[in-house]
Amino acid sequence: MANILGIGIATLDIVNHVAAWPAEDEEVRALAQDVRRGGNVTNTLVVLSQLGHRCRWAGTLADDSGSAAIRNDLMQYDIDTAHVQQIPGAHAPTSYIALNVHNGSRTIIHYRDLPEYGLDAFHRIDLQALDWLHAEGRNVVAVAEMLKDARRQYPQLPLSVEIEKPREHIEQLCGLADLLIYSRHYALHQLGAEAPITPEAIANTFLRRQQQRAPQAIHVCSWGEHGAYGLAPDSELFHSPAFTPPKVIDTLGAGDTFNAGLIHARLAGQGLTDSLRSACRLAGDKVGRHGFHGLTTQSLQE
Ligand code: FRU
Repeated sequence: MANILGIGIATLDIVNHVAAWPAEDEEVRALAQDVRRGGNVTNTLVVLSQLGHRCRWAGTLADDSGSAAIRNDLMQYDIDTAHVQQIPGAHAPTSYIALNVHNGSRTIIHYRDLPEYGLDAFHRIDLQALDWLHAEGRNVVAVAEMLKDARRQYPQLPLSVEIEKPREHIEQLCGLADLLIYSRHYALHQLGAEAPITPEAIANTFLRRQQQRAPQAIHVCSWGEHGAYGLAPDSELFHSPAFTPPKVIDTLGAGDTFNAGLIHARLAGQGLTDSLRSACRLAGDKVGRHGFHGLTTQSLQE
């Protein structure tokens, strides 16, 4: 069991299960609806907690009912929220999600007026007992300072950063972490029209480019149904296939689950090939079920 700190967001996800994404100005009726806690880093922490780790969350909440529901959900998974910054008068960040019942695809409209986690709050966290620190790549200037501070205080503490969306100056975070986890969306955006044709060629080109920014780090890119690619500091490229379940029912948070699997595997001392496999296995189990409940070490069994 490891002590893990996650920096990033929590959201309220209003999930409408639909037969298809509606055309503009059309009205469709949802087949079902559920309201869940979401948000990349808290999704990752909820999975890590079920894998047996002691998790703490550094993020912001408001003082509305949505925020209370988020806090309750995190409590059920034993996530320590003592360092959460509560901001009066704002609202829980909310995602309006259409989940396609035929293929599990998720289309998200996200709204937030809640400020991001501040440096002052971060400075109040005692990092001493930590075995791993994972941050979402957002709020770049502050997160860069948090990573630098953690590195200065505890040079041996492993630091990972998820880079999911292109954001201003986000590349600054690459040189500050030991493990960078990119989304397919980000890789494709970075390569733009130059992108080669096959996923492997794209991942290879993209990851090698990222390696030039941060040669000391491991760079990983998850690629949905094509699994995931990883580039080690010695420049060897690794790949794991996806472990797709018989029916894909819910891809919401599959990437966040992959991140949890990767962190868990690295903490267990696994090499890059095995770590990618574990992460893909866990993400495969996730997309075959609704939400994250029940993702345990059993999901990692061969
Ligand atoms: C899934 C997710 C959702 C949330 C959205 C925020 O990765 O974290 O739970 O609504 O992304 O971007």
